[in-house]
Amino acid sequence: MNVCMIGAGYVGLTTAAVLAKLGHTVHCIDENEQKIAALQRGDIPIYEPGLAELLTDYKSRLFFHHNEQHIKEADVIFICVGTPPDLKGKPDVSYVHRAMDTLIPYIGDHQTLVMKSTVPIGTNERIYKRLKNEGKHVRIVSNPEFLREGSAIYDSLHPDRIVIGLRDDDDRSLSVMQTLYAGIHAPYVVTSLNGAEMIKYAANAFLATKISFINEMARLCDAYDVDVTDVAKGIGLDERIGRHFLQAGIGYGGSCFPKDVTALIQMAYEQMVRPYMLEATKTINDTQIYWYIQKMKRTLGALAGKRIAVLGIAFKPNTDDIRESPALSFIKKLHALGADVIAHDPKVVVPNDVNVKQAKTIHEALQKADALIVATDWDAYKQLNWEEVKGMMNGNVVIDGRNSLPREAIMNAGLNYIGVGRG
Ligand code: UGA
Repeated sequence: MNVCMIGAGYVGLTTAAVLAKLGHTVHCIDENEQKIAALQRGDIPIYEPGLAELLTDYKSRLFFHHNEQHIKEADVIFICVGTPPDLKGKPDVSYVHRAMDTLIPYIGDHQTLVMKSTVPIGTNERIYKRLKNEGKHVRIVSNPEFLREGSAIYDSLHPDRIVIGLRDDDDRSLSVMQTLYAGIHAPYVVTSLNGAEMIKYAANAFLATKISFINEMARLCDAYDVDVTDVAKGIGLDERIGRHFLQAGIGYGGSCFPKDVTALIQMAYEQMVRPYMLEATKTINDTQIYWYIQKMKRTLGALAGKRIAVLGIAFKPNTDDIRESPALSFIKKLHALGADVIAHDPKVVVPNDVNVKQAKTIHEALQKADALIVATDWDAYKQLNWEEVKGMMNGNVVIDGRNSLPREAIMNAGLNYIGVGRG
């Protein structure tokens, strides 16, 4: 098939690479000329494991443009533009509408328009009506994305399900989507346009709620001297609960969970529905770092003047994304409390507006540190030699903000281990 991808960001690029691998020809269009020029040269603007290899392997079927000339020839047009939060936390759909402005002069009745961007419930129905008013009888599909940054390619090739939202009178688009995704084995969930939009928000809100739930349990575990990782295992092996997304830590971040939970809360308010559960999910996440800093103070005393090595800046490992990163919020809070922070990350540079030092190597960060905090669970931090770490530090406190470090080895090295709800 001939596919046109509007938006060459995370989702757009990954989807384009995967569709090219499946045998389709993909034309990616982005209004950012610099990004397109870089992609045409073979430079990838984001760090995502496996993406560069896929873009190289299938370059004969992948094209990058900053003009609209290929829209007309496409069988399927994907919209993969961002929907960042506005000042009230509602998704800003202006990029989606701009993409529609670009598309409308070229789009024709034979084409299928597929929405991958996360859009507020009702958006696709409104787009359908707009197209109809403009005399365009285009089929429209809501096909939300469930890929995670850091494992985006794997997730796209091995999804748990493919969600397809359609209008009642659309008897063609399902088979178009099945042809497009032939080669990917996953159950299809077919629903309305609004249904697919709701599934996307509900999935992210539920996963965020699981994290906030275990973080609340971690607070309780601390109070009752219980290890929350035992609790996560003990409940997670119950298949009705499931073991994923029960890793307690300093909270969830990234461009999706915080934004989507807030957006769903706003959508509920608009419909006069009080979203008690979502409010609690958000409140726990918003206060998790504060709770953790109080806990740190009990061991370290006042933080002012303490040299603290923070390992990790990205919102999670295997990405260079710092949007809503709990690690970065942690760094900012520690700095505001007067700590002498030195940060490290294998892929991220401390942003200009954050006035803390950055170490080039983990060893440099650890030199003379009073405390070491792992804020992002990169593999390199889990594999440290703890005897060596002890030798480099001034103090002996290791703070495991992601419950990902080997507690026994750390304690055997004579270091004081503080996890999240580890008793
Ligand atoms: C999330 C969803 O997992 C994807 O399914 C979805 O497609 C994506 O949002 C999206 O809407 O685009 P992502 O934001 O890439 O993916 O990252 P996750 O792996 O879900 O992690 C989100 C945050 O939760 C990270 O800060 C991570 O450290 C934290 N987390 C995750 C925990 O604190 N505990 C856990 O057990 C799991």
